[in-house]
Amino acid sequence: MEALHPDIDHVLFSKEEIAQIVQRMGSEIARDYQGKDLVLIAVLRGAVVFMGDLMRAIDAPLAIDFMAVSSYGDGAKSSGIVRIVKDLDMDIKGRDVLIVEDILDSGLTLRYLMKNLASRHPASLEVATFLVKDVEGKQAAIDPKYVGTHCPDDFVVGYGLDFAERYRNLPYVGVLKPEVYS
Ligand code: IMP
Ligand code: MG
Repeated sequence: MEALHPDIDHVLFSKEEIAQIVQRMGSEIARDYQGKDLVLIAVLRGAVVFMGDLMRAIDAPLAIDFMAVSSYGDGAKSSGIVRIVKDLDMDIKGRDVLIVEDILDSGLTLRYLMKNLASRHPASLEVATFLVKDVEGKQAAIDPKYVGTHCPDDFVVGYGLDFAERYRNLPYVGVLKPEVYS
């Protein structure tokens, strides 16, 4: 076991646990998309690590593409109003689109994206998210078809998730020490 990063309070999901979760999700997706025209779309940058693992866990033909969005507002909280910074290279009309996300918090960013992608007339449009943050008294704006696991309402980093663009390369998901961001 590698040493814990000094800014991490505790590990929520180890590298081994993450690998098991992603394998399970990949099997579910492969089963559901047999004979379909699957396109995985990851939202840069947080979902890149999960995308890399998930695509290799799906034993079915697929294509991948990426989008980058920037959200208006203060940065810490999602406003749900997003601007597309990098659009898809692919035409998704008539294809089976699965959005690959790192974490679902309010879901406002994803709700906007789904509306935008739906207007391009894919055959189907679903979401696979590695994490769903359990936020007390607040309902996420969307309901993902595939969920890796749930996490508490703390600021989590690692496995693609950042704080100020750091920690994305940690192989586990951990809770950041509050003194790091306060
Ligand atoms: P939403 O629109 O509130 O669902 O925002 C989701 C986005 O906020 C995710 O794609 C992440 O980029 C970011 N995010 C939300 N919670 C966390 C967290 O705990 N750590 C790191 N990024 C987060
Ligand atoms: Mg993100």
